[in-house]
Amino acid sequence: MTEPASAPLPVVILISGRGSNLQAIIDAVARDALAVDIRAVISNRPQAAGLQRANQAGITTAVVDHTLYADRLAFDQALQACIDRYQPGLIILAGFMRILSADFVAHYHGRMLNIHPSLLPDFPGLNTHQRVLDAGCKIHGASVHFVTADIDGGPLVVQTRVPVHAGDSADSLATRVLEQEHHLYPVAIRWFAEGRLTLDENGQALLDGAILTEPRQLPATAGEPV
Ligand code: GRF
Repeated sequence: MTEPASAPLPVVILISGRGSNLQAIIDAVARDALAVDIRAVISNRPQAAGLQRANQAGITTAVVDHTLYADRLAFDQALQACIDRYQPGLIILAGFMRILSADFVAHYHGRMLNIHPSLLPDFPGLNTHQRVLDAGCKIHGASVHFVTADIDGGPLVVQTRVPVHAGDSADSLATRVLEQEHHLYPVAIRWFAEGRLTLDENGQALLDGAILTEPRQLPATAGEPV
C-alpha cells in the first residue's frame, strides 16, 4: 500500500499592492512546483491589484484596511484575527507595506517570511534600487528572511545576486531584481513547506539541520549570472 500524500502546508499571503510575487507563488503551486495550500490572500489596501490575481485563481481574499483602525495595535489585532481564522502554518509577506508590532511578529515567530529587494543586511527599508545606484554598487539582488521585530533584519535564508548595468535606472534595476524575486521566493517557501527550513530556539535559521551563518545563494536565472 502506498503512503497517503501529506496535506500541503496551509499558508496565508499578505499583500499591499501589485502582487507579482503572489502571482509567482500561485503559478508555482499551479505547476506542482510548490506544495502549499493558499488558504487566503489578505490585503491592507482594498484596491490592491493582487486581490484580483487571487480572485482569478479562485483563492479566498480578505481586506483589513489599516485606515479604518485607530492605531497600529488595533490594526495588528484585527489582522491577526483575520489570519488566524485560516490556521496557516506559514505567513508569507509579499509586498506587504505595513510595519508590524512586536506582539504580532512574536505570535508568528518562526513561521513568517518576507522578501526584500536588496542584498540584506545592505539597504533595508524603501527605495532600495535608487539607493543602490546612488551608492555606486555593482551588485544588487533580493533576499528572503524570517520576520522578526527588527524591520528587514530577521535571519536571512536565501538571496539571488543581480548585476547593476551601466545606464541602469531605478526602474530597469527593479525589473531585473523582481524577475529574480519570482524565482527566489517559491524556493524558500518550498524549503519551509518541506520542513527543511526552520528557525531554532536561538532565533537562527536552519536549512537541512545546519545553521545558515550566511544566506544560501540561488543563482540568477535567464542568463543573468553574476
Ligand atoms: C517586491 O519588490 C518585494 O521584494 C517588496 O515589495 C515588492 C512587491 O512587489 N517587498 P509585488 O507586489 O510582489 O509585485
